[in-house]
Order: sequence, then structure tokens, then C-alpha cells
Amino acid sequence: MGELIIAKTVKEVRDQVSAWRKEGLTVGLVPTMGYLHEGHASLVDKAVSMCDRVVASDFVNPTQFGPGEDLESYPRDFEHDCALLKEHGCNMVFYPSVDEMYPDGNGKTDTYVEILDDMPKQLCGKTRPIHFRGVCTVVSKLFNIVLPDKAFFGQKDAQQLAIIKRMVRDLSYGIEIVGCPIVREADGLAKSSRNTYLNDAERQAALCLSRAVFAGMDMVKAGEKNADTVVGMMKDIIEKEPLAKIDYVSSVDAVTMADVHEIKAPVLFAMAVYIGKTRLIDNFITE
Ligand code: PAF
Repeated sequence: MGELIIAKTVKEVRDQVSAWRKEGLTVGLVPTMGYLHEGHASLVDKAVSMCDRVVASDFVNPTQFGPGEDLESYPRDFEHDCALLKEHGCNMVFYPSVDEMYPDGNGKTDTYVEILDDMPKQLCGKTRPIHFRGVCTVVSKLFNIVLPDKAFFGQKDAQQLAIIKRMVRDLSYGIEIVGCPIVREADGLAKSSRNTYLNDAERQAALCLSRAVFAGMDMVKAGEKNADTVVGMMKDIIEKEPLAKIDYVSSVDAVTMADVHEIKAPVLFAMAVYIGKTRLIDNFITE
């Protein structure tokens, strides 16, 4: 196991990355909000396989949480995160304070990066209107701090991944965005730091998300071309679960996030479902 450098300031990250650059090494970035699990580990593994050096960021970003969301209660365990990162060959973790990232104090900023069309207003954006503005802003800052060759994001946050690809294109970042497959528990539940909020009954109930995803995939594989029919069947499965409340189940173009009703180009079938008070997401994309 190699050394894991812990950097708390922008300057420390910049100095280390520029030393690596002088040696001609390539750098990969894995942005995270910490409380790492096997899903994050798979991003680090992919980054290690594609880059000479890997930086993970571990920062619960206040600008992507709306009022009444779980910013304060978001789970944190930096020691565990470091152990996981080290085990998977990450070279440096950037663990900044809120003030280091947002020098105006209190996690406030007057400068945002935002996609102005409907893309961030779809799906999760309907109930989380400022979420993707916060994500784009912090990811943009991380790109400027680390200046990576490649950055790695999970397909579980499919809308986030599509939005970041768009931002990279629109702002001409010379960074390759690598999307990585969803990692699931043995029983199908998509790994998420928020799974930790679930009690035993809720954990069991949460399986309705992956059940709906797998049934949707099967229906498409069997030749269904009507996206609304697939969505309807997925909703039926979730609605049978008494502890589940649907935020949305939708079919959208996998690149633009525009609503689609017919499966022609790749379609993202995405959902957000409350299990008790915990909001979980899952999805699949057709070929
Ligand atoms: O996916 C996440 O964990 C976050 O949205 C990200 C990309 C690290 C930005 O805070």
C-alpha cells in the first residue's frame, strides 16, 4: 500500500500536482463527498488503472444542498475514507474546510457555474432546483484546483454525469470525463452513502428501486419501444411498496435529459424515491 497524502489547502494540492507534472505523470480526479463505499472504490480503481497519480476530493459541498436538505446530517467518516482510499491506491486526498473552498465564509459564493437551459431542471432538478448549480460550481473549482487529465463519476448520478460532460464541453475544459457503472449490494440495492439512513424495514423496502430497474431493463430487452409503458410498469412495482413514495420515475434522452416517449436513441430511465425520509435514486440507460 502506498502513501496517502492528506491535503487540506488548495496550495498543497497545487504544489503536489505540479511536482507530479514536472515528472511527466498524468493525474486523475475522483470527486466525492466522503463516507466512501465500494461505489467510490470502483471510481478510484478505474482512475488508478488509467492515470499515473490519483487525487480524491472529500468535501460535503454546501452549495448543492437546498434548505431543509441533509447538509448537516450528511454522514462523515474521514478516517474510514482515508483507509479505503489508501487500500485502493489513491495518492492524495483533498479534504478542505468550507472556508478553504468558499472564502466568502459560511459556504457562500456569488460566483456560480450554471447550465441555463432545462437540463438541470429535469429529474432531480424539479425538487432540487439549486442542486446542479452547486455541483457544477464545486466540480469546476475542483477542476481548476487539481487540473486533472481525467475525472471519474458514477453512473448512479446519471443526470450529474450528463451535466458535467455538458459543462466540460461548454467551458472547454481539457478534461476527459469517465463514467463508471453503478455498484450494487448483493441484493441489488445501488450503493449510496445515504443507505446508512435506512432502518431494517426501510432497507428491505428500498429494494423496490432495483426491482423496478431490473424489470425495466428486461422489458426493454424483450423489445418494448414505448418508454411510457416501461415507466408505468416501473411505477407499479414501486407503488406496491408501502414505505416508498415516488418523487419521479421518468424517461429522458440520455445526453440532453429532454423527455422521451419512444425508445430510439439511448434513453435514461431514472427514478428518485423516498423510503421513509430517505431519498434514493437509481437508473439504467438503454443501448
Ligand atoms: O456526486 C457527488 O458526490 C457530488 O455531487 C460531487 C460530484 C462530489 C460534487 O460535490
